[in-house]
Amino acid sequence: AKSETPTTGAATTGDTVWIGHIGSLSGTDAVFGQSTDNGTKLAVEEQNKKNGIKGKKVMLKTLDDQGKPEEAAVAATRLITQDKVSVLLGEVASTRSLAMASIADSNHIPMVSSGSTNPRVTKDGDKTRPYVFRICFLDNFAGTVMAKFVTENLKLTKVAILRDVGNDYSMGLAQFFRETFQKRGGEIVAEQSFKSGEQDFKAQLTAIKGKNPELIYVPGYYTEVSLIARQARELGIKQPFAGGDGWDSGKLYEVAKGSLDGSYFSTHYSGDDPSPTVQDFITRYKAIYNTPPDTLAVLGYDAAKVAMDAMERATELSGPAIRDALEKTKDFKGVSGNVTIDGDHNPIKSAVIMTIEQNKAKYTATVQP
Ligand code: PHE
Repeated sequence: AKSETPTTGAATTGDTVWIGHIGSLSGTDAVFGQSTDNGTKLAVEEQNKKNGIKGKKVMLKTLDDQGKPEEAAVAATRLITQDKVSVLLGEVASTRSLAMASIADSNHIPMVSSGSTNPRVTKDGDKTRPYVFRICFLDNFAGTVMAKFVTENLKLTKVAILRDVGNDYSMGLAQFFRETFQKRGGEIVAEQSFKSGEQDFKAQLTAIKGKNPELIYVPGYYTEVSLIARQARELGIKQPFAGGDGWDSGKLYEVAKGSLDGSYFSTHYSGDDPSPTVQDFITRYKAIYNTPPDTLAVLGYDAAKVAMDAMERATELSGPAIRDALEKTKDFKGVSGNVTIDGDHNPIKSAVIMTIEQNKAKYTATVQP
C-alpha cells in the first residue's frame, strides 16, 4: 500500500532536536561544503555545551550534494521527510539553494543559507519565499561594490567580463557589476562565457585579449578562476582580474600560484579583522581544526547560530514558529557581522575588498551598504 505523505513542520517532541545541513562535501567546489560543515559543527557543539535548545540536545545531520543542484533537492526532501529535521542549513551556491528553496517552503521547514548571494534565493519574482532566509549580503550589493572600486579607486574604464553561464550567482553578479559600471561611465569591451567543469579557457581569453581591457571581471568560483588566471598569464595577458566571494578559498592560491597577484575580490569576512569576536572565533576554530577558518567556515558557523538563536526564541519547535522567530532576528552578533533580518529575509551587511599579493589575500577596505 502507498504510505501517506508525512506531515512536515510539526513541533518536535522528545529530548533531541535535529538540524540538517546540505553542502558540497565533494565535487568541484568541495571546499565550500567542507568549510561550512566545520563551522556548523562547532556552532552545534558550543550550543550543546550551553544545554542545547530549550533543554534538548541538538543533533546535526549533514548530507553531501556533490555540488549538484538535483542532489541538493533530493537531500532536502530526505532530511525533512525521513530525518525530521526542524531546520535546514545550506547551501553555499545560489544555484543549489534555488533547487532547495521550494522544498523548504512546501514542507514548512525553515532554510537558512550561509552564502547564497543571488537575490532570487529568498525572493521569487516579487514574492518573498516564506521559509527561506540567508545571513549574507546580496549580489546587487557585491556587484555595485566592485564596480565602484574599479571606477573610483582603480580609475579604470575598460573592462571585460568572463562569467559562468551554468551558475546563477555568476550570471547575477556579472549583470549587477555591468549595470553599475556602465552607469558610472565604464565600458564593457568584451563579454565571454564558460561553464563550470571546463578546464580550457584559452579561446575566451584570446578573444578578450584582442579587445585590450584594463581589467577582467570574473564572477566565478575558485576552481575555474585559478585556472583562468594561469592561462591568461600564459597568453601574455598582464591585466589584473577582479571578482566576488566565489574566489574565496585557500585552494584558489594553490592552483593560481601567484597568477592572481594584483587582483581584487569582494567577500564577507577577513581574518585580519582585529575585533575580539573575530579573533576569539579564530582561536576556538583553530583549537579544533588546526587551521584558521576561511570565509565559509565563518558563514557556516553564523548561519547555524542564527538558526539556533531563532529556535531558542520560538514559541515551540515547529517549522512555522521557528520561521516567525527567524523573521524577528535583530542585531544578532555574528562573526561575519551583525544580522538583522529584513522583510525579504535578508540581512544588511558590509562587504570587504581583498587584494591578492604574493599569492595571499590582504584586507584592503570595508564597504558599508
Ligand atoms: N555567493 C556564492 C553563491 O551564491 C557562494 C559563496 C559564498 C562562495 C561565500 C564563496 C564564499 O553562489
